[in-house]
Amino acid sequence: MVTARWHTALKRALQEEEGMKNVFQLATTDVNTTPYVRSNVLRDHIIHPSLPSLPLLLATTDIRIPKVTQIKSNPSHRVEAHFWIEATNEQFRISGRAAIYPSPELSEQKGIEGVGEVYDAFRSQGWNWEDERRKQFDNVGAHMRASWCRPVPGSPMNSYSDAEKWPVKIARPGEEGYDAKNYEEALGHFALLLIDPVEVDYVELGVMPNRRTKFVRQESDGERWKEVILVP
Ligand SMILES: Cc1cc2nc3c(=O)[nH]c(=O)nc-3n(C[C@H](O)[C@H](O)[C@H](O)COP(=O)(O)O)c2cc1C
Repeated sequence: MVTARWHTALKRALQEEEGMKNVFQLATTDVNTTPYVRSNVLRDHIIHPSLPSLPLLLATTDIRIPKVTQIKSNPSHRVEAHFWIEATNEQFRISGRAAIYPSPELSEQKGIEGVGEVYDAFRSQGWNWEDERRKQFDNVGAHMRASWCRPVPGSPMNSYSDAEKWPVKIARPGEEGYDAKNYEEALGHFALLLIDPVEVDYVELGVMPNRRTKFVRQESDGERWKEVILVP
């Protein structure tokens, strides 16, 4: 299996990381090109078997959140993900196209359909992003699941104590304390955020002399990533 060298390095570095594992920073711009950045958790690497060197990075979010509107307002839906792996002294800046899969009822208005050969490959084998969304929702912890049952993130509150009224945990069907209304409400706000990388700037500060390599995705068959060595 021919994987992307930057992706093999990222996975190896993430395994060595301790503490805030899998946390990255996600940059977006709004319609006025004002930049925004925030932390997110990398939940998975989605790889189609026929395209092992073209991984999709999977994160999750709340569909009501500003970053979704920002990504939608960017015509090419470009974002940049930043990873700093302290354990290995490596930085990865992964620029790519975002796709967003909310609940099917919201997908026309709020979703961003993935375009290009990776999504086409998944589509041709009948892959259903809704199944993946439900799987990811059930994989997160009950406390985390409750975060999608709050009022609109970023909207004003009268007092911090308003939060005491919100559900603290959301159990899955069949678990003790399951409440169908809360579960469905949280699931309704939950969305997948995928990044289809097109350029990766990889800096290795753990080696002397330091190294910096740019990986540029090639749209044609053959070598999928052109590597350019850069001054660090
Ligand atoms: C360590 C850490 C991990 C986070 N992970 C996520 C995440 O996976 N998804 C998410 O939507 N927000 C996550 N957040 C919250 C975001 O950073 C951000 O505050 C929130 O999503 C609002 O984003 P926006 O207003 O820029 O859209 C995380 C925050 C921290 C500090």
